[in-house]
Amino acid sequence: MIYPEYRPRRLRRNENLRALVRETVLSPAQLIYPLFVMPGKQKREEISSMPGVFRLSVDQLAKEAQECRGLGINSLLLFGLPEKKDRVGSGAHGAAHGAAHGAAHGTDGIVQRAIKELKNKAPELTVITDVCLCEYTSHGHCGIIHNQQVDNDATLEVLARIARSHAMAGADIVAPSDMMDGRVGAIRAALDQDNFDQVAIMSCAVKYASAFYGPFREAADCAPQEGDRRGYQMDPANSREALREATLDLEEGADILMVKPAMAYLDIIRMLRDEFDHPLAAYQVSGEYAMLKAAAAKGWLDEERVMVESLLAIRRAGADIILSYFAKDMARLS
Ligand code: PBG
Repeated sequence: MIYPEYRPRRLRRNENLRALVRETVLSPAQLIYPLFVMPGKQKREEISSMPGVFRLSVDQLAKEAQECRGLGINSLLLFGLPEKKDRVGSGAHGAAHGAAHGAAHGTDGIVQRAIKELKNKAPELTVITDVCLCEYTSHGHCGIIHNQQVDNDATLEVLARIARSHAMAGADIVAPSDMMDGRVGAIRAALDQDNFDQVAIMSCAVKYASAFYGPFREAADCAPQEGDRRGYQMDPANSREALREATLDLEEGADILMVKPAMAYLDIIRMLRDEFDHPLAAYQVSGEYAMLKAAAAKGWLDEERVMVESLLAIRRAGADIILSYFAKDMARLS
């Protein structure tokens, strides 16, 4: 009998001792803060289902970047809300609708302008861009639609073009989130061809068709007009499939893997951590943020404590990097 020689409570007696034996730490340098960029000037619109998160016009970005920097957050993820949407998502790469493939890539899309602004005003920050079509298409799907289906291979060309336009504007990392087959390879080839061999790919390798994206679809106005995303995002019932998705993306050249959402998929994060040596990111998505915020607003949960606990759980499961709308609040505690 070990008791009473070993008493686990001995090291829980006070905060110094608890901190001394703490296994998991959260550092602001490992947090990525997502930003929504919108057209116009002097715009700062709060997203109603995501209290404390704003859509910002390009001129507001420098201030936001400084704030993050001051808190020790070095990495931002950009989502764009274009001026206009169309069937092929032209706003994503900035080129005019119908421009021939291979024509000069426009760099005047909303995200391209945001990247330039950030690289100008806060060059020390790492700029990561979401590469997807859903924020830019009138139908709200993540790819090009042919015969009422999202056409995988036609979408790859467009994704490669978007990634190239982001790299050209100065992005450090591109983060494809569309879930088309073969996109990492297509993007890597396109970047390398244009000498952007130093631009990294953070691949949303394991992205589930999740209802936890609900508030994001309000934020980015990108709910599919018809149907849903189950034809390309993963079935929440599957876990072995996550290994196949991650393996493919690594073979195609992904530098960082990502699991999305986070809290309902901690087993998947752990599985990938055990299986692969690559850096692993997890995205605490809009619905995860919204539910904690809403319960806290009602006084049902202690916001600060559930925030810390949820982020720790994601780290403990094995994520090196966390993308979270709580990034600034979390960094303030560090
Ligand atoms: C777009 C994209 C989505 C999210 C990130 N990139 C929405 C979706 O796929 O429906 C969700 C992020 C969040 O909920 O915070 N492809």
